[in-house]
Amino acid sequence: MQPTIATLTLNAAIDQTVMVPGFALDAVNRVETVQRDAGGKGVNVASFLAHFGHKIVATGLLGQENDAIFARHFAHAGILDACTRCEGATRTNVKIVDPAQDQVTDLNFPGIVAGAADLVLVSETLARLMARGLDWLGLCGSLPAGLPADTYARLIAQAQAEGVKVALDTSGAALGPALAARPDIVKPNAAELGAYLGCVIATPADALAAAHDLVAKGIGLVAVSMGAEGAVLVRGCEAVHARPPHIAIASTVGAGDAMVAGLIHAATLGLDLAATARIATAFSLGALGEIGPRLPGRARIEALAHAVEITALG
Ligand SMILES: Nc1ncnc2c1ncn2[C@@H]1O[C@H](COP(=O)(O)OP(=O)(O)OP(=O)(O)O)[C@@H](O)[C@H]1O
Ligand SMILES: [Mg+2]
Repeated sequence: MQPTIATLTLNAAIDQTVMVPGFALDAVNRVETVQRDAGGKGVNVASFLAHFGHKIVATGLLGQENDAIFARHFAHAGILDACTRCEGATRTNVKIVDPAQDQVTDLNFPGIVAGAADLVLVSETLARLMARGLDWLGLCGSLPAGLPADTYARLIAQAQAEGVKVALDTSGAALGPALAARPDIVKPNAAELGAYLGCVIATPADALAAAHDLVAKGIGLVAVSMGAEGAVLVRGCEAVHARPPHIAIASTVGAGDAMVAGLIHAATLGLDLAATARIATAFSLGALGEIGPRLPGRARIEALAHAVEITALG
């Protein structure tokens, strides 16, 4: 069956999690265990959706020198691999987990350097997929060095011209031009949206005002995520606050990416805003309970969705 959902990752990463109990600076540290996962936001969103039974195609850029871990992951997860290989190596992001001191230290490496020719290849791949009938395209994560800030805006215009809906999750310089292209769904966290609007988003009321701002500019659904405080979702003149229940957290990696996956999943079902908020939050909570970009089974997701507290906002 032809996938109807594509995700795009232009700045993928290999997530290397190293366990170092008692990690110390300026000292020799011993690594207890190492785990390497294919990552990057769009890869994570694809993984969550595939885990929930959707047929997914992954697009974007991978460095040709070390793409084997991605190829293996896609094959294992049943994700169609339509990623363009480019020169160089995909970056590795190192996460030093120290359970003794309950600390996590991240070392995020610079990624590949991409060029206009790479983007043409990605865009051609998308054109082929769209011609065969895509419904949704998820544009996720940062842009690699070498690509202009309006890269997502151009890809959104390409998708819209083909009648394909777009979900966007990015930040920094890429966010403004992409929002101006009016994607159908956006999921910034409070800090990302605050940085774009030049304000501090500290409360659900702040998030509501900011989300209304974006909806007024023509964005279909805005979900502002606020970590443990949940998320504020606005669509048209409707707004809700989704508050998560207390749960045990195994890893915070990909909570936001899982919410993007949940929003796309809800959109494919045509759910109303409250049900969308419930299931998207449940995807995040499911991801928080697992290590790596995985979701628990459907029954657990449904139980989590049921436990989410929804409040209508004026
Ligand atoms: N500590 C937590 N406790 C309960 N729920 C949480 C917690 N952290 C995140 N969540 C849930 O996950 C959702 C998304 O989390 P968050 O706002 O941290 O996304 P993000 O900053 O985009 O994360 P990412 O690093 O994956 O991009 C929240 O709306 C909330 O439902
Ligand atoms: Mg995020």
